[in-house]
Amino acid sequence: MLKIEDLRKSFGGVAATNGITLDFPQGSLSAVIGPNGAGKTTFFNLITGAFPPDAGRILLGGENIAGLSAPEIVRRGIGRAFQIASIFPSLTVRDAVLGAVNAHLHWHAKLARRFPLAEAAAQTDEVIELVNLQARANTLSGNLSHGEQKLLDIALALALDPKVLLLDEPTAGMGSEERWQMIETVYQLWQRKKMTLIFIEHDMDIVFKYAQTIRVLSYGSVLAEGNAEEVRRHPKVIEAYLGAHFETAKS
Ligand SMILES: Nc1ncnc2c1ncn2[C@@H]1O[C@H](COP(=O)(O)OP(=O)(O)O)[C@@H](O)[C@H]1O
Ligand SMILES: [Mg+2]
Repeated sequence: MLKIEDLRKSFGGVAATNGITLDFPQGSLSAVIGPNGAGKTTFFNLITGAFPPDAGRILLGGENIAGLSAPEIVRRGIGRAFQIASIFPSLTVRDAVLGAVNAHLHWHAKLARRFPLAEAAAQTDEVIELVNLQARANTLSGNLSHGEQKLLDIALALALDPKVLLLDEPTAGMGSEERWQMIETVYQLWQRKKMTLIFIEHDMDIVFKYAQTIRVLSYGSVLAEGNAEEVRRHPKVIEAYLGAHFETAKS
């Protein structure tokens, strides 16, 4: 479904993405891990068209989308949670999601030459339920907690009905309990929608518990991939990532 072939991007002399080849099957749930500066966010930025790759192909359903504009890539079905909930503090959760749903339906309506207003409310409710914000639907976005704002960010991405959803550290900045709630919500929505979901995550307990497949990046390259057990035991991973992680934890 999403196939990455020899993707490359350098900034100045730094190869942030140094020939990544990866396959994300339809409906899979994968984690991307790696030390700070490994190129995880750059990898997402290339997929979403934030900037064009220097080389390589990004195949979505067989079509190369590398180099297309970010809006065009969203239309093709690649969604990403941006930190945008806080930009509209005076909109309620429902109105923010409705706005995104309407924008999406409107674009498709132009193609289908109809404007299905009635669908918007139902889709808005579904999206709010997917991120578990029903109780906060009438709350102003500006009054949400940090974790709830991140859920709204995910809701705004879901409103565009993505085939592929990219989440860059959805649990960042959260306490332990809130973190597990967040990842559980993400897991539940993936189970219901079965889109291809890729998340970047630092918390290894979360990664090992939830990801079907784990891709380890280091210096812009794929160091290892596999399931939790394979990655946990991989000598290169222990050396480059977990070793350092455990050492930090010990000291
Ligand atoms: N827009 C950019 N301009 C210049 N350098 C960048 C840019 N984005 C990322 N980099 C560099 O690319 C490398 C990988 O960064 P990043 O993808 O953010 O890593 P990660 O998300 O794994 O921490 C780093 O050396 C970073 O400084
Ligand atoms: Mg990052």
